[in-house]
Amino acid sequence: MNKKVIVPPIKSQGIKTKLVPWINDTILQSGIDIENANWIEPFFGTGVVGLNSPVQGRHIVSDTNPHIINLYNSIKDGSITEYNMRAYLEREGKVLEQADENGYEYYREVKNRFNRDHSPFDFIFLSRAGFNGMMRFNKKGQWNIPFCQKPNRFAPAYISKICNQIASAEKIIRKGDWQFLNQGFIDTINMAKVGDIIYCDPPYFGRYVDYYNGWTEEDEEALFAALMCTPAHFILSTWHHNEFRENEMMNRFWNRFNVLTQEHYYHGGGHIENRHPMVEALVFNFDLQEPQYQEEAQQLELLFA
Ligand SMILES: C[S@@+](CC[C@H](N)C(=O)[O-])C[C@H]1O[C@@H](n2cnc3c(N)ncnc32)[C@H](O)[C@@H]1O
Repeated sequence: MNKKVIVPPIKSQGIKTKLVPWINDTILQSGIDIENANWIEPFFGTGVVGLNSPVQGRHIVSDTNPHIINLYNSIKDGSITEYNMRAYLEREGKVLEQADENGYEYYREVKNRFNRDHSPFDFIFLSRAGFNGMMRFNKKGQWNIPFCQKPNRFAPAYISKICNQIASAEKIIRKGDWQFLNQGFIDTINMAKVGDIIYCDPPYFGRYVDYYNGWTEEDEEALFAALMCTPAHFILSTWHHNEFRENEMMNRFWNRFNVLTQEHYYHGGGHIENRHPMVEALVFNFDLQEPQYQEEAQQLELLFA
C-alpha cells in the first residue's frame, strides 16, 4: 500500500508513522470487510495509525492521557482549527523568539501554564518545542520535557506544517464517525463486536515509562485476557527482540497467535537501546490471504492450462 501517510500534529517517541504501511497491508490482506468494520483503538497515542486506517466504519479510539483526547475532541468540535492554531503559534512563536534566556524562560512559562490550565493549544506548543519530539509526564502528571533549545522554533514554514497537519486530521475526522474517549484499554476493547478490528499499541513492557505509560506484567496479562476473549479481529503491535534481549511476553502470551516481524529504528529518546534497530512484531488473530502467492498460483494455472 503506497498511499501517503498522514502525519498527526503531535509527536511522541513511540510514534508508529513508519509502521503504518505494514499495519495497513496486514489489514488489507486479512479479508476483513473494511467498508463496514469499526476501528477500535484503545492506545491512540499521537493517532497516526487510526488516522491512516483503511477501515471505514466507526472509529472508537481512546487513551488514558486526557491531553491527547482533549486535543482530538477540540479538533472534532471545531474549537481548534488550522486557522486559530496558526494565529496562536504566530503569536506565541514571536514571544518565544524574543524571550529571555534564548527562549528557555518562555518555554517554562508555557509549560507551567499548560500544567495548570491544560490548554490543547499549549499542548501543541510543548509537543513541537520540546526536546526531540518527545512526550513525557512526571509522577504528578505534568509535562516533563525540556526545551528544544531553538528560540526560532516556530518559523513560518514550521507553523504551516503544523497547521496542515491539523487540517488533515480535521478532514479525516469530519468525514468519518469518530469517538474520542479518555478511558482505560479494557473498557474500549469491550466495545468491539464481531467483524470489528481492534488495533492495540500498548506501552512496551520493560521499556519507556512515564505517568501515562506505566505498563506492568499484570497489564500485559489483562490485555492478553481481553484479546483472547474478544469476538473481534485484533492486531497488536509489540517489540519482538533487539540485539540486547528478547521480549519475554512473546513466549508467555503472544506466540500462540499469528506473528509477523520487521526491523525498525525509533528516533528520539535518550535511551541507548533506541539507537539500535528493534525488531517489531504484529500479533493478530486472523489468517492472511497472501496476494503474492495467489498471483503466482494463477500464473502457474495459466502456464499449465
Ligand atoms: C505506545 S503509545 C501509542 C502510540 C501510537 N500508536 C502512535 O503511533 O502514536 C501507548 C499509548 O497508550 C496510552 N496508555 C498507557 N496505558 C494505558 C491504559 N492502561 N489504557 C489506555 N491507554 C493507555 C499512553 O498514554 C500512550 O498514549
